[in-house]
Amino acid sequence: MKRSCYCGKVDESFLGKEITVSGWVHSRRDHGGVVFIDLRDREGIVQIVFQPENKEIFSGAEKLRSEFVISVKGAVRNRPEGTINPNMFTGKIEIVAQKLEIINICPALPLEVDDYKETSEEVRLKYRYLDLRRPSFQKNFIIRHKMQQEIRNYLNSEGFLEIETPFLTKSTPEGARDFLVPARMSHGSFYALPQSPQIFKQILMVSGFDKYYQVARCFRDEDLRADRQLEFTQIDMEMSFIDETDIMSVVENMLAKVFKSALNIEIKTPFEKMPYDTAMLKYGSDKPDTRFEMFIEDFSSELANCGFGVFSGAVAKGGAVRGLCIPSGAKFSRSEIDGLTKFVSEYGAKGLAWMKVTSGGAESNIVKFFKPEEITTIINKFNAKEGDLLVFLADEEETVAQGLGALRLKMGKELGLIDKNKYNFLWVVDFPLFAWDKDEKRWSAIHHPFTSVKEEDKDKLTFEDAGKAKARAYDVVLNGVELGGGSIRIHKPEMQAKVFELLNISQESAKEKFGFLLDALTYGAPPHGGLAIGFDRLCALLVGEESIREVIAFPKTQKAICPMSNAPSPVAEKQLKELGIKIMTKANTLKQEDSK
Ligand code: AMO
Ligand code: AMP
Repeated sequence: MKRSCYCGKVDESFLGKEITVSGWVHSRRDHGGVVFIDLRDREGIVQIVFQPENKEIFSGAEKLRSEFVISVKGAVRNRPEGTINPNMFTGKIEIVAQKLEIINICPALPLEVDDYKETSEEVRLKYRYLDLRRPSFQKNFIIRHKMQQEIRNYLNSEGFLEIETPFLTKSTPEGARDFLVPARMSHGSFYALPQSPQIFKQILMVSGFDKYYQVARCFRDEDLRADRQLEFTQIDMEMSFIDETDIMSVVENMLAKVFKSALNIEIKTPFEKMPYDTAMLKYGSDKPDTRFEMFIEDFSSELANCGFGVFSGAVAKGGAVRGLCIPSGAKFSRSEIDGLTKFVSEYGAKGLAWMKVTSGGAESNIVKFFKPEEITTIINKFNAKEGDLLVFLADEEETVAQGLGALRLKMGKELGLIDKNKYNFLWVVDFPLFAWDKDEKRWSAIHHPFTSVKEEDKDKLTFEDAGKAKARAYDVVLNGVELGGGSIRIHKPEMQAKVFELLNISQESAKEKFGFLLDALTYGAPPHGGLAIGFDRLCALLVGEESIREVIAFPKTQKAICPMSNAPSPVAEKQLKELGIKIMTKANTLKQEDSK
């Protein structure tokens, strides 16, 4: 019996016809001598009726259990009045079975295939083939596929060339830990898996390809979170003889196409641009969620000399005092406020000062330290109303921004301030080029070391002023998620050398690590720049999932393992010998690290 139609595609146009469908038994119901099977394939579910008159196939139908694989031949007819399901594509019809073939049986299932989600991740990933059978999952991957085609079509139409770059390569500069692959034929040496195709795409520009893209797998040995995996996919691109506006418009148009085709949503272009400093000040984040306001307000100048030592002391040490106004938060109990204090302490805050706004001003344990006019200034700046709760952090600027940024998001979610139907895109621009590494007492690159400095900040490329130099870098953010990032690159070798010097990367070290790029830049490099979109994050947002694991077929668990294949796993002694590798015990490895 050969399939003539997908289960999920049978509609009224098939009425009266005889068809054959194949798939998995989604559910079976016995109704007074009639057996109903919901048969499922990739495209959806169709109802099949087994009537008792046809004794042979009826007894077959009685044996069917969840996830048996069957083929059924039958005639399509209208469902009887009252049994129509308007929510299903196939909801108006059913197939009356005339022939049944049981192709494969299935034992009791370790997890339900209908849309039940509350199974542990360990079990879901161990039996990923069953997990992936779930209709919601199939939908996610069909959308993911379509998005990829949409993106390819768009970039092809804009004259981009899709070019593959190596997986077995040298360490790349994205700042995570590398995955290393021992090189059998170069004893003692290792390839690194690419953290991104960054260096190769720049070299492709030097080679004159002008516009490059790749649906690129990237590998980063980092701690996993909902939005991070060890291997993930980027829509990676690079262009020559362009500036920021060219890249931004390609990305905006590409995202507009994707949103139109996946969700039928028109997104407004060009996207808003927000300087990094504003994002950190107002939202406490370099990836602000602009779907709700609740802005952070700064009081560092107004309260620099106030009577509350925690505040004035922080400002005196060069830190900041900032706060949030939580609408109607005055009703929070002391233990709820203690809960907020504990929450911000996870971001390094030493406490959380608070005031409840009353009809006559404010009340709390610290109000006594402030002059009435200071309280008025605070209330006015927040535009706060009676019944609101004002909370403050006083600390180093970074700690204040991080703590309040996280608290803002938490309160936004809990108070239902976020409109889930909004898609707020924006560009975060004017990033600093360098960040000060306190532990190592040196400058480090915020993006990667190939990022150009803004023309007007060229003279700030000195050890003293490096912190003030702004980068020609940009991140595209959607609803508080960093979707992608990129920059205009350095294309002059002498400028690249200067940046390496500031980053304290010695000439030898630069030569050893990135020498091939530095050499390439000396042979006539065009001005160029690009960007990479995190494709898994984009897909998760498009299908409304919190975790990118829901749009990756075979992801790793939080502990970075695959419970289905049992990767990673030890290898045979012979393989290690060939590679010249000896494994130390974990205890010895730790001992060696400790003695460093
Ligand atoms: P960046 O490191 O910002 O830039 O990466 C670009 C985008 O990739 C996504 N991303 C991840 N997604 C899932 N799991 C991860 N572990 C992970 N890490 C990053 C994010 C991020 O915005 N070569 C530069 C791009 C360029 O300059 O052109 C780069 O890789 O969505
Ligand atoms: P204390 O002076 O320790 O009694 O603290 C008074 C209030 O200030 C408490 O509500 C503390 O949580 C809060 N507090 C302490 N340190 C800070 C800080 N760095 N920033 C904001 N509030 C703080």
